[in-house]
Amino acid sequence: MATVECRGIRKVYGALEVMRDFDLNVDDHEFVVFLGPSGCGKSTMLRMIAGLEEISGGDLLIGGARMNDRDPGDRGIAMVFQNYALYPHMSVRENITFGLERAGIGKAAIEQRLAPVVDALGLGVYLSRKPTELSGGQQQRVAIARAMIKTPEVFLFDEPLSNLDAKLRGNLRVEIARLHRALKTTSIYVTHDQLEAMTLADRIVLMKDGRIEQMGTPEEIYQAPATLFAAGFIGTPNMNFLPLQMMDGVAGDALVRFQAPAGIRSGEVMVGIRPGSFRLSDDARAFRGIVERNEFHGETRLISLRNDLHEIDVAVPASCTPRVGEMLGLEVDVADLHIFDPVTGRRLN
Ligand SMILES: Nc1ncnc2c1ncn2[C@@H]1O[C@H](COP(=O)(O)OP(=O)(O)O)[C@@H](O)[C@H]1O
Ligand SMILES: [Mg+2]
Repeated sequence: MATVECRGIRKVYGALEVMRDFDLNVDDHEFVVFLGPSGCGKSTMLRMIAGLEEISGGDLLIGGARMNDRDPGDRGIAMVFQNYALYPHMSVRENITFGLERAGIGKAAIEQRLAPVVDALGLGVYLSRKPTELSGGQQQRVAIARAMIKTPEVFLFDEPLSNLDAKLRGNLRVEIARLHRALKTTSIYVTHDQLEAMTLADRIVLMKDGRIEQMGTPEEIYQAPATLFAAGFIGTPNMNFLPLQMMDGVAGDALVRFQAPAGIRSGEVMVGIRPGSFRLSDDARAFRGIVERNEFHGETRLISLRNDLHEIDVAVPASCTPRVGEMLGLEVDVADLHIFDPVTGRRLN
């Protein structure tokens, strides 16, 4: 197992710079997730680590050794792709062991390595089947087994679950988490799905436009998003954003009223409030709005309140059943506000 260090890594395609100043240290045993919208550079970064894409600038170290000019096969990595690309004419067993055979590893040694991998992924009964005789989830498990059997220093995953339906995606996500707990192989996992990132990651690297927007544990990013982008990207249902005017160091209206973060006296701030941070209130001074929408989500309902100033999404327990058109009051604690500079997008509190 090994560390992965990215020092000022850069990628250009001709005149187009798609990655800049990428600095990251992945610890031994760590599970890091690259999260971000489509096109932000996740795959490009992962492919540079794998050696499938040339590094335009900066240094890549795996296990402390510089890898920039090493072939993919000499980097100690194994990669699982979105498109699992199994060989259709080979059995499951052959698909898993093919790479080892080609590397000249003996039959007995291969059998020894095959057993625990097949066991871990529950593939024992499928070994003689062809890929076309498997479901999508089973095929992706074969692809993971093919990577695992190489016993790499580092696992790289590029959106391995995004071709699967929601239920299978959930099941395999749990299996990948379980495998990582068992094997503890250093892993980098690319996804655009925040739920996958939140549930799998020791640490999330949130990316935007070829840069790192924020790094931290899922809890850290959720509780204190560093930018408006991070605040909007992480968390379901989405955070509410309210533009508020500061006057003499105080901002707010009937909904929220708070002292300005240090150094800010006037101007506009953007206040983020998660739908689950509100309490319903009968207090006459509370923010009041008309229920415009009421969606049943199972455990909770998502309701939208509107008045002249704001339109706000609020998550309430499902047992709370306001009617559309009804007037409701809301309260929120100042501690639950996320305050941002609307120009730079940086967090202020
Ligand atoms: N071969 C290429 N030539 C030019 N631009 C590319 C190439 N591959 C990727 N890009 C660009 O690099 C950016 C990052 O792409 P990618 O890493 O695939 O994003 P992600 O995996 O986050 O969706 C995108 O703007 C994409 O258009
Ligand atoms: Mg990609």
